[in-house]
Formats: sequence, C-alpha cells, structure tokens
Amino acid sequence: MYFEISEERQKTHYGGNMKEFIDLRSDTVTQPTPAMRKAMAGAKVGDDVFGEDPTVNALQEKVASLLGKEGAIFVPTGTMANQLSIKSHTQPGDEVVIEASSHAYNFEGGATGALSGVQFYLVNGVRGIMEPSSIEEAIRPLDHHFPVTKLVCLENTHNRGSGSVYPIEKMRNIYELAQNRGLRVHLDGARLWNAAVATGVKPHEYAQYADSVSVCLSKGLGAPMGSLVSGSKTFIDRVHRFRKMFGGGMRQAGIVAAAGIYALDHHVKRLQEDHQNAKRLAMGLKDMKGTSINPDHVETNIVIFDISQTGKTASQIVEAMKEERVLILATGKTLIRLVTHLDVTREDIEIALKRFRKVLG
Ligand SMILES: Cc1ncc(COP(=O)(O)O)c(C=O)c1O
Repeated sequence: MYFEISEERQKTHYGGNMKEFIDLRSDTVTQPTPAMRKAMAGAKVGDDVFGEDPTVNALQEKVASLLGKEGAIFVPTGTMANQLSIKSHTQPGDEVVIEASSHAYNFEGGATGALSGVQFYLVNGVRGIMEPSSIEEAIRPLDHHFPVTKLVCLENTHNRGSGSVYPIEKMRNIYELAQNRGLRVHLDGARLWNAAVATGVKPHEYAQYADSVSVCLSKGLGAPMGSLVSGSKTFIDRVHRFRKMFGGGMRQAGIVAAAGIYALDHHVKRLQEDHQNAKRLAMGLKDMKGTSINPDHVETNIVIFDISQTGKTASQIVEAMKEERVLILATGKTLIRLVTHLDVTREDIEIALKRFRKVLG
C-alpha cells in the first residue's frame, strides 16, 4: 500500500482513492479536479453543430482572444486540430515543411498522407527548433517536377525536443520568410501555455507569427479532453467544414468545454510548478550513475534523458520503476521521457528521485 500522499490531498484531488502510482508518463494522464467537475456539471449546453452551445461559444471566443485571432473552433483532440489545419491550408500534392521529430509527422498515425494527400519535407532541428535558413533550403523551386511547398509547421513547446521553447525572434524570422515566399505557417501549440509561462511571452505574441494555431486543454491544463484551432474567420470556416467531414462535429460539447474554460482560468499560472518540478527531476537525475542529461535543456515540463551508460535498456528501467510504483515512458532504446503535471507534487518528485536512485544503483 502507498501511504506517502497526504490524506487531505487524496480526498481533494483523487476522489478519495489511494494514489497507487506516481505517473510521469505524460501530462495527459491528469484527473479532472472536483472544482473542474463542478464547472462541467453546471455548464449550459446546446447543439454545437448548430452553433448553439453557449459554453463552447464562450470557450472559442476566449481562446481566439488569448491568441489574438479572429476565430477559434473546438475539436476533440490535438491530432484533429493539427490535421484539420493542414487539410485547410493545402491541396493534395502539396508539400509541408516540418521538423523531423515533430508530433504531426511522427505520432499522428500517418493522418496527413491519408486525410490531406500531402507529403512532408523533413528538416532537422536542434531539440526540435528549426533554423530559418534550413526552412529556406527546404522550399521547392517553382518547377513542375516538384511538389508545391505550401505550409511550414512549427511545434512550441516541442515534445520530443524535451519541451523546448521556440525563441520568439526565430518564430518571427520564420514567419517573415514564409510570407515573403507565399507560404502559410501552422503552429502546433499543444503546450503553448507552457512556453508562455516559462518565458513571459504572451500566447498572442507567439500566435502573431502563425496563420493558424492549435492549442490543447488536455495536456498540462488538466482538462479531460479538447483542443482548439484558431485563425482568421475565413480559415476557421474552412476548418469547420472539414471538422464535420472528419467526424469531429460534437453536440452538447459544453460539458467538456466548461472544463477547458475552468482550466484556462485556474491552471495556467501553476504550470510554473510543473516546470520547477521538471528542473528538479533533471538536476537529481544528472547526478545518478549512467544517466546523461543537461538540466539547462529542460525549459518546461518535459525531461528526456539517456541511460546508455547504465548497461540497461530504457524498457528494463521502465519495468523496474513500475515495480517501484513510478510510471515512466521509454521513447527510444536508451531514452526515457518524464513529464510533470497537475497531479504530481514536489513531494512526488522527491519520492520518484529516491526510487530512480534505487533502480539505477
Ligand atoms: C506537441 C503535440 N501535438 C499534438 C498532440 C496530439 O494531441 P492529442 O493526443 O490530443 O491528439 C500531442 C500529444 O501529446 C503533442 O504532444
């Protein structure tokens, strides 16, 4: 039995259940808090396919305003938000410039080829961040042999880049380049809130350098589901059409939109705690036998480290940590990812580090 979480926290945060595991696999594993559930239960709802759900409409207006865009549209997942954006910016046969370790290229089930009929041109970044010069090299000449380069996709923060933040200046340079070359920019901002909290740059300041932005409510913000795409009115109208086509038109979705509004009102500032916890994890891991990690590279809530010098594989360490009631993720043969979030306290981090010390010897 696991007794290390205070009784009070169990009651308020885990619905009275014993917390068996410290779950560092992802920031998507959070449970809605009692206050969030209350907001959901009391939400006014209507049929959102008819545009009649007042809570969905309020969420869309709120996000459009936070991102400084004309409109926003609520969709079930971050994957759908990215794929609808790509679909709405392109025609079959076009090419999309994207970083090689990005989410939309690697972890969305090949959706872009299947649903939009476009191909990716991969650019290597440094922890996911691309140089404008590399993007410029990727743009195809206007020649009928080549696909038409139509879109550049950025990811901020960058998941596989260990939660790295795009410097705002770099985004500006990329956006100017794209405008000069007649390209559109889509920003996968699943964790844009983390970037904003880490740097003090406002979400709308990042968003001004993208034609469309997808943001998630179900990651660090702790809502049970939901993402939004934002952009110009004309663009959102196009996304609305494809949302229906992709099967993402929801009905009384205000129930979940209310969780998103609650999360935006109450869970953004506290992301700072997740960032501090991630840094603490990185500092602790740095001193352990066989690990390789640079804590300076941990800018937000994602920690990725190498364990090749331990003589074990990442999967073996995942299994050993599971025995110790800490859940972590192998993202390569010798790479492990940890993500901090709403349901992980500083106390949990210290316990997890103790258990890592035990497992890594
Ligand atoms: C950067 C990024 N984009 C998009 C997504 C997709 O979100 P969803 O799981 O809601 O489809 C994720 C999920 O973790 C992500 O990390």
